[in-house]
Amino acid sequence: MKGIFPTGKFKNLQTPFYFYDTELLRETIRTAVAEAAKYNYHIHYAVKANANPQILGIIRESGLGADCVSGGEIQAALNAGFPADKIVFAGVGKADREINLGLDNDIFCFNAESIPELEVINELAESKGKTARVALRINPEVDAHTHHHITTGTKENKFGINLDQLDAVLDTLQSLASVRLIGLHFHIGSQLTEMEPFRMLCSRVNELQQKLADRNIRVEHINFGGGLGIDYDHPDEQLIPDFKEYFELFHTHFPAYPDQQIHFEPGRSIVGQCGSLISKVLYVKEGSVKKFVILDAGFTELIRPALYDAHHEIENLSSEEPGEIYDVVGPICESSDCFAKQIELNKTDRGDLIAIRSAGAYGEIMASQYNCRRLPEAYFSDLL
Ligand code: LLP
Repeated sequence: MKGIFPTGKFKNLQTPFYFYDTELLRETIRTAVAEAAKYNYHIHYAVKANANPQILGIIRESGLGADCVSGGEIQAALNAGFPADKIVFAGVGKADREINLGLDNDIFCFNAESIPELEVINELAESKGKTARVALRINPEVDAHTHHHITTGTKENKFGINLDQLDAVLDTLQSLASVRLIGLHFHIGSQLTEMEPFRMLCSRVNELQQKLADRNIRVEHINFGGGLGIDYDHPDEQLIPDFKEYFELFHTHFPAYPDQQIHFEPGRSIVGQCGSLISKVLYVKEGSVKKFVILDAGFTELIRPALYDAHHEIENLSSEEPGEIYDVVGPICESSDCFAKQIELNKTDRGDLIAIRSAGAYGEIMASQYNCRRLPEAYFSDLL
């Protein structure tokens, strides 16, 4: 099954470009917000998934907060109108100027990942006469069973405070007068397609709450991070991820204290399916053992297949002819510039338009200008 695209309107647009179905984006956000609202859960959209200003604008209109991992993302969120008190700032390496930007704007919370970072936040806050709200990013040592490049919650990862170091961190916090501990933060990985790791995360957080209670600490906020996966294999069968099952799981397995606020940071599940990379076929090249479809888009526009061996569905929007088997590749001078090997496409010719699906998350934002290529335009279904 092919997705539905306004191909007539694509004719005069220079390829490659990103195409966003804004109706689907709005519907996805509505669903996520409605399911989270059942339990009074808060959603901070993970800006790293897609920071296109139009996309951020739509997300901000829906009342979501923003999860940022750099000063640039904080600025992008502020520019898009996200209120500072709905911005959280995570990241294992926050530069002083980025911390200062967060402090100057009174953002909601810094998710801190180490003792030296807490000390720097404390020092910078103190020099401004402010108190920084911090959540400790804990590495829960839960294996997310996803690609090793996007697993974050195991002991070997650089992320978060390890469980056996928590006591030392809590001791240090007592001596830091300009930071106030308001929460715990977790993120076990991205593109999780099974619910089991999230259930394990809940039980780990329950244990931790108990551990904190033993020290008479009761945090107001728990942030479970992001990670809910999308269906890259059958985008049209599940355009909107199962937010119902996802939030219900946390409600069932994590009994929050009364008044405790629960937060999530979904990125991919919000924007992944609404975006496609649209490209034109430059050449169909018959090798001695294979046929190559050579596109005008490469890993400069969508790096996920090259970087993570990720699968994205590919469709020929211009052909209804019987299928043939091709390798679909880009023009970049590297062998890894390959979107798919030995896949079936309707018979393909020079000039055909190709859609690479599920490119809304970590597509445009990870684009590069390697080979001196220009960054592509983005078009929106409601503005074409
Ligand atoms: N919160 C934190 C602390 C994160 O590190 C991430 C993603 C998220 C939230 C959002 O996760 P999501 O809901 O999107 O899974 N470039 C990779 C994904 C890297 C994800 C990094 N962290 C990819 O293309 O698959």
